[in-house]
Amino acid sequence: MIVARTLAALRDARRDARGPVGLVPTMGYLHQGHLSLVHAAKAECESVYASIFVNPTQFGPHEDFAKYPRDEARDLEMLESAGVSLVFIPSVEEMYPAGDATRISVDALTGVLEGARRPGHFVGVATVVAKLLNAVQPDRSYFGQKDAQQLAVIRRMVRDLLLPIEVVGCPIIRDDDGLACSSRNVYLAPEQRQAALSLSRGLRAAEHAFAAGLRDAEALRTIVRTQILAEPLAAIDYVSLADADSLAELEGSVQGPALLSLVVGFGPTHLLDNVTLVP
Ligand code: PAJ
Repeated sequence: MIVARTLAALRDARRDARGPVGLVPTMGYLHQGHLSLVHAAKAECESVYASIFVNPTQFGPHEDFAKYPRDEARDLEMLESAGVSLVFIPSVEEMYPAGDATRISVDALTGVLEGARRPGHFVGVATVVAKLLNAVQPDRSYFGQKDAQQLAVIRRMVRDLLLPIEVVGCPIIRDDDGLACSSRNVYLAPEQRQAALSLSRGLRAAEHAFAAGLRDAEALRTIVRTQILAEPLAAIDYVSLADADSLAELEGSVQGPALLSLVVGFGPTHLLDNVTLVP
């Protein structure tokens, strides 16, 4: 496995890459969710590249950029045994050269949900993903449905900027107890982790009610909220049921595919989860 820390090293290796190249962008501190993207890429691409870059522009001033969990040695072992052929680990200076002034803003999808809660976050995400796609020039790039709004933003950016890349969305990977895998789960104290099971429990309860015919948007949101409100350690940021394409909040009866998503705080740690409801 090649470890490329500069654009020059990446481009050297990329010139010799065999077959379709699949890229899995990450911020490291890898878990089974990240590895599932590698496995999906392995199934479809001759060469699989991953990137590890904790991107400063997608963190707000009061967020956890400096203390975002990092363990490069462990990440490299995991990627190598998963069959990744190259890992790109650029420095901040490499990704944002002195005088860097260009930002990508996907306006339509970013005023709601995480975008509303974290101003500027998706500008940082879209900008760094565009840079990574341009640097690596993969045929396909793999992203998790766990970050559903991020996936929607990246799909729209790739389409709008005419990037010749297929964006592949992959299902949410969960621990055995139902908690969605996340690098931030390490921040949770045992009792917070226990309380965090209410997220998937609430989403599952709403999913069952939907399967049984319930279509009222507010009633579905209430099912999720009720499960989470039962946990005193959980503080709801939002529970949303939105049109899966436009991300516009739904009222009344759900007619088309809908994204039921939430962010819940446990102390300073905010966890995301979601399910898609398809009538
Ligand atoms: P990061 O949080 O490291 O996630 C990297 C990729 O793994 C994302 O596509 C994310 O959706 C996916 N992922 C995370 N947890 C998952 C889970 N439980 N199941 C399935 N996929 C999961 O997302 C980012 O990094 C950054 O914003 C990035 C896109 C790399 C840009 O900086």
